[in-house]
Amino acid sequence: MSQSESLVIALVGGLWGDEGKGKVLHHEVQDTHVVIRGTGGGNAGHTLVTDDNKKFVTHLVPSGVLNPKTINIIGAGVVLHPGKLIKEIAELKARGISTDNLRISPKAHLTLDYHLLIERVLEQRRGKDPIGSTMQGIGPTYSDKANRWGLRAELLNNPDEFMRRLNIALKHLRAQFPQYARNDVFKPDFYRSLASESKRKLAPYLAETRSIVEPMIRKGGRKILLEGAQSTLLDNDHGNYPKTTSSHPSVAGLCQGSEVAPRWLTSTIVVVKGYPSRVGNGGFPTELKNEQGDLIREKGHEYGATTNRPRRIGFADGVAISYSGWVNGATDIVITRIDTLADVGELSICNAYSIKGQETKDFPVNDSVLEKCTPVYDPRKYRWSAKDLEGVKKFADLPVDAQKYCQRLASFVPYARLYGVGVGENQSAFITL
Ligand code: IMP
Repeated sequence: MSQSESLVIALVGGLWGDEGKGKVLHHEVQDTHVVIRGTGGGNAGHTLVTDDNKKFVTHLVPSGVLNPKTINIIGAGVVLHPGKLIKEIAELKARGISTDNLRISPKAHLTLDYHLLIERVLEQRRGKDPIGSTMQGIGPTYSDKANRWGLRAELLNNPDEFMRRLNIALKHLRAQFPQYARNDVFKPDFYRSLASESKRKLAPYLAETRSIVEPMIRKGGRKILLEGAQSTLLDNDHGNYPKTTSSHPSVAGLCQGSEVAPRWLTSTIVVVKGYPSRVGNGGFPTELKNEQGDLIREKGHEYGATTNRPRRIGFADGVAISYSGWVNGATDIVITRIDTLADVGELSICNAYSIKGQETKDFPVNDSVLEKCTPVYDPRKYRWSAKDLEGVKKFADLPVDAQKYCQRLASFVPYARLYGVGVGENQSAFITL
């Protein structure tokens, strides 16, 4: 190894998603040599706002794409819909953004239109208790991967082998869903033109992650960013099962999906929004089903970047933050959206849950238990106004209540430091400590 170690930073969402990771990623990415997206698929949406107020929403392409010097890898643990990726690349190019530095791991799995149909069928079959999926076919793609009849991105380079493997997958799936077997999306011919278009438009991006990252780690002095999607409390192992996503968005899953071993990590940034939000179904003890919640939703434009669904909003939840800090071994905490919380009235912070009259600081990962928890709040209340945030560039210049609020949230993870605070939509509205 060289004398100057490379920085390898994992950045993950700490709650139920939509914490504003895009903004923190954009901040981190400026001097980053490579960004690797490691988990999830088109269910994610990262909103990137440049300082000249251009807004980009990426679903599959990693967030370093706005920086011409950064290599952007769609990693082994990602599932990607070839048609949607072709569209996303075309949209970026149409807005003058080059995708020359995009790379796709041959190990990533493909989402195809039958996955979207299967997802709709499964959600319907769940009746009154659906997951609240984004319906992007993510769960069925990971199921096929686990069943060993999934199709990997490497096949994009070989349409004949793609068709052979597709036939095998569809044979299994027609047997599993006989009533849909005659549907077009269960017929191999439906995918012929996609296979040849993908060979032209996506196969040129295929590249082994190791060939890019290992030389950087050996040489040293490089910055490598592992980009999380979704969030810790949606992790299929560590989140509120079964109201989870089908991948592993916490840091261990991100390492696995990025093909970067834990040994190389130098820090783990956990991004926590100043107020939690949840877009699908499931327990949410601090949820605000009142005017204050509506106000925060409207101020924060809290509608899904992929689905446009209204997000549920709640008071800050220290029990969830503490758990997430532990699962991720957080070294750094970022608190986002302090500006959204300006002028929304008095803010409370939950420090424990009450369940059946018992107080607990343990986060229950069984969703039906979480549904029954009620919040226990700190006696201290907080409020600040937008005019006190104007032009603030240093943490010490934030309104005292906002400082204390961020410090209190970070204190739920005693082994991490408060690293940054998001104070506005633009990329420059980010204060590091
Ligand atoms: P799926 O992964 O699309 O099947 O969705 C499963 C659960 O994860 C649902 O509650 C979704 O709303 C949630 N989810 C998936 N992706 C995201 C995301 O990027 N942000 C927030 N929630 C998400």
